[in-house]
Amino acid sequence: MSVKIAVAGKGGTGKTTLSALIVRSLIEEKKASVLALDADPNSNLNELLGVKVNSTVGHIVEDFKKNGAVISSGLYKDQMVEMNLHQSVIEGKGFDLLVMGRGEGPGCYCAANNLFKKYIDMLQGSYDFVVMDNEAGLEHLSRKTTNNVDIMLIISDPSARGILSASRINTLINELTIKVKKTFLIINRLDGPPDERLLRIVKDNGFDGPLTVDNDLQINDTELNCESIFSLHENSISISQIKKILLKIL
Ligand SMILES: Nc1ncnc2c1ncn2[C@@H]1O[C@H](COP(=O)(O)OP(=O)(O)OP(=O)(O)O)[C@@H](O)[C@H]1O
Ligand SMILES: [Mg+2]
Repeated sequence: MSVKIAVAGKGGTGKTTLSALIVRSLIEEKKASVLALDADPNSNLNELLGVKVNSTVGHIVEDFKKNGAVISSGLYKDQMVEMNLHQSVIEGKGFDLLVMGRGEGPGCYCAANNLFKKYIDMLQGSYDFVVMDNEAGLEHLSRKTTNNVDIMLIISDPSARGILSASRINTLINELTIKVKKTFLIINRLDGPPDERLLRIVKDNGFDGPLTVDNDLQINDTELNCESIFSLHENSISISQIKKILLKIL
């Protein structure tokens, strides 16, 4: 049975960065097989994991549309779905990556979304861990792209508004009856220990903890050098904090 970790939160709080750090830590600490999922239509998890994206689920949907007549027979369509899945799994060092992407042009992401969900179901049993990076906001929840999660990590910046936003995400998860076994709040990019008032707001909004990750200048460095998270020094503060967080939550 694989353990599915999903990462949610408002824009720019560090979801993708922490997802990549988690993938690296799982590989190094647990020697685990990991499937990384980029569920953000504006995908960039691959950059932090240091791999190129040749195909996304969105591309597959476009191909289906173009070849619609050819694949109208049910059986053939299923075979196409499976064949394309294996072509779109990107192999990294110690992990695989599946990117949702999006269809071309205006309109809805439903088709890419639905196929992505199907692919997740088909794939996840083959890995020890699944780590899902989501787009900002609530849509991945209302569409239920994010579902059947063992551990939901809600990321916030160290601000009162950030915590309130995290709390709204938590409320929505409950309202939509999304299946989540455990939820944790991570306050990211702290400079020093969290303010007492912030801790009070965390508590008042029903979160335990919180778990925290410091503002790590080495992350800025790797980003400016266009390097992946794997080039971060193993003693960097964010790596050691994520490893400690994994020990706590797993
Ligand atoms: N702990 C950290 N220390 C220093 N910089 C960080 C940290 N976490 C994230 N960052 C930086 O913050 C910025 C936003 O991070 P990231 O792209 O991971 O956020 P996001 O929540 O995925 O954003 P989006 O909502 O656009 O998907 C990036 O420049 C990243 O390098
Ligand atoms: Mg992101």
